[in-house]
Amino acid sequence: MVEPVGLGRKNLLGMADLTAEEIFRILDTAASFREVNARDIKKVPTLRGKTIINLFFENSTRTRTSFELAGKRMSADVINISASSSSVAKGETLYDTVATLQAMNPDVVVVRHAQSGAHVFLARNLPRTVVVNAGDGRHEHPTQALLDLLTIRDHLPAMKRQGFAGLQVAICGDVVHSRVARSNAIALNTLGARVRFVGPPTLMPAQAEQAWGVTVHSDMESGLAGVDVVMVLRLQNERMNGAFIPSVREYFEFWGINRDRLNLAAPHAVVMHPGPINRGVEIASDVADDPKRTLILEQVANGLAVRMALLYRLCGGRHGDERAAS
Ligand code: CP
Repeated sequence: MVEPVGLGRKNLLGMADLTAEEIFRILDTAASFREVNARDIKKVPTLRGKTIINLFFENSTRTRTSFELAGKRMSADVINISASSSSVAKGETLYDTVATLQAMNPDVVVVRHAQSGAHVFLARNLPRTVVVNAGDGRHEHPTQALLDLLTIRDHLPAMKRQGFAGLQVAICGDVVHSRVARSNAIALNTLGARVRFVGPPTLMPAQAEQAWGVTVHSDMESGLAGVDVVMVLRLQNERMNGAFIPSVREYFEFWGINRDRLNLAAPHAVVMHPGPINRGVEIASDVADDPKRTLILEQVANGLAVRMALLYRLCGGRHGDERAAS
């Protein structure tokens, strides 16, 4: 069977955009790009002549850097725009910013914005351009979910699993403010995993079970019991405008992932965190730094490979051609 070119679609706005087959196609391509990233000369000509604009209205280290590196390693022309150093700081509206970008005819715009849905506004107003959501408010962060899936897939053999079906994943902590939780819940459900949201009721979205196809646990003992993956979320103080927790000290005491709580999970369970981490808030330092259990830096490395794969495929590339073009 001849594989269709690219992903057969223009944008990646959320994880519901992708079928299981498309997810696996991106993960397979990402796995190939890891070989490129391990070379002395980490450059392939696959996106030569393409222009990528990274438009970041919110702070970022991992996502912005990896999208920039991804484009550059595939020889695209990459421009980074952050709100604080752009004309947005002079009062320019999102509409005028987008119209200005459209006039320059970029091939791809990667956008992160504090407002949920901002990426949809861009996609509607950039009809000739591929739009990639790099995180919109509390809504979605699809490339984080893809890199998390790649990281989990690498560790399935140690969990004695052939695939994602039946895998038990606990997503823990500040779920209500987390776009990472939403994108992962959608993606893991698409692949047949079982997802639990674990955390205090004040940090759970309303009707999470019906809305996200998960089970909700308001105590760590039941939430972590026997799970294969413990995905810890950052406590997002910047999105809180009320008293969601009594204090950071009590949050760590009752909800932080420490060694004793990790022992509730399956013996082979791995710990993940999208970063940045708050040590001593949602995760204990000795767990965060345990190379036998914690995959945080593998997630970062996979983020680069996944973003290369995604840009390549959204620009029309086929799996199998990415290294041949080197
Ligand atoms: N995980 C993540 O999105 O990190 P950054 O905010 O550093 O991009």
